[in-house]
Amino acid sequence: MTDLDAFITGLPKAELHLHIEGSLEPEQMFAFARRNGISIPYASVEEVRAAYAFGNLQDFLDIYYAGADVLRTRADFHDLAAAYFDRAAADGVVHAEIMFDPQTHSDRGIPFAEVIEGLLSAMEEAETRHGISSNLIMSFLRHLSEETAFETLAMAEPWLDRIMAVGLDSSELGHPPEKFARVFTAAAARGLRLVAHAGEEGPPDYVKQALDLLKVERIDHGNRALEDNALVDRLVQSGMTLTVCPLSNLKLCVVDRIEDHPIDRMLALGLKATVNSDDPAYFGGYVADNYRAIAAGRGLGKAELAELARNSFTGSFLPADIARKHVEQVDAWLAAH
Ligand code: HPA
Ligand code: ZN
Repeated sequence: MTDLDAFITGLPKAELHLHIEGSLEPEQMFAFARRNGISIPYASVEEVRAAYAFGNLQDFLDIYYAGADVLRTRADFHDLAAAYFDRAAADGVVHAEIMFDPQTHSDRGIPFAEVIEGLLSAMEEAETRHGISSNLIMSFLRHLSEETAFETLAMAEPWLDRIMAVGLDSSELGHPPEKFARVFTAAAARGLRLVAHAGEEGPPDYVKQALDLLKVERIDHGNRALEDNALVDRLVQSGMTLTVCPLSNLKLCVVDRIEDHPIDRMLALGLKATVNSDDPAYFGGYVADNYRAIAAGRGLGKAELAELARNSFTGSFLPADIARKHVEQVDAWLAAH
């Protein structure tokens, strides 16, 4: 391991943009299919990995939703999340804010309780086994209707004290944030925090809508905000956190090459960028791999990497005093290296 590799691995970090369904590794897909008696359209792990060549977001989503079909029981959701936490712990993650897509499962007849109870049990174990704190972000699928988003919110009612925030994901183009303004207002009224994917493939106007109509506290991705200088100024002035996902951007052709990634431009503009893995099993790396990819691709040094890690805590939903303690740990790690 190089000095910079070791620095990145040991750097305390929060992961703020992770779809738990996107952490389903091909090996686990086969294991869950076997134990649930389901057949999957792949003969081998190699064949699955070979299918992970995407031209855009929708190419990926088609395979991602198909893969999620092997997730059937509370044990599956537990084991999926437990495996993620093991990987995250090895990557220096000390706090994770985990998105899950209830509609991907309720549409297949999987009870909400099975999904969330499985995830919550793994989150409790992660705290005791790894010292990782975590919370849940319930994401609405934006290609589905506002009505089904409201149904999802109603379904979650008994667990709302265990859910930190709502989010918005899936096919962005043609499904602007305004479609979900009312359900986000309803979620806020129930005490939930708000985030949304915007500006991954969608135009800068979708980022503005997420701010103005959904009133989000964080933008997931946000890359295309860079096309609008006034919007960049607004994001800088408001200290808005962007949860950027470099390897995802590469795999989904948001950037052509990692060498073209705008992460350091974002920092130089004063944007609160963070680094995250999005769907690590599909995009070829967990969070430390994402830090390594931009360090190599853009020549980022330790100070910039530490800034990204600091932003991950200040942009998290942790209480301010706890976030501050984590930031002090980042500073201590940087000072020691
Ligand atoms: N974008 C939109 N929806 C998603 C993503 C993403 O990167 N990952 C999982 N669902
Ligand atoms: Zn995402």
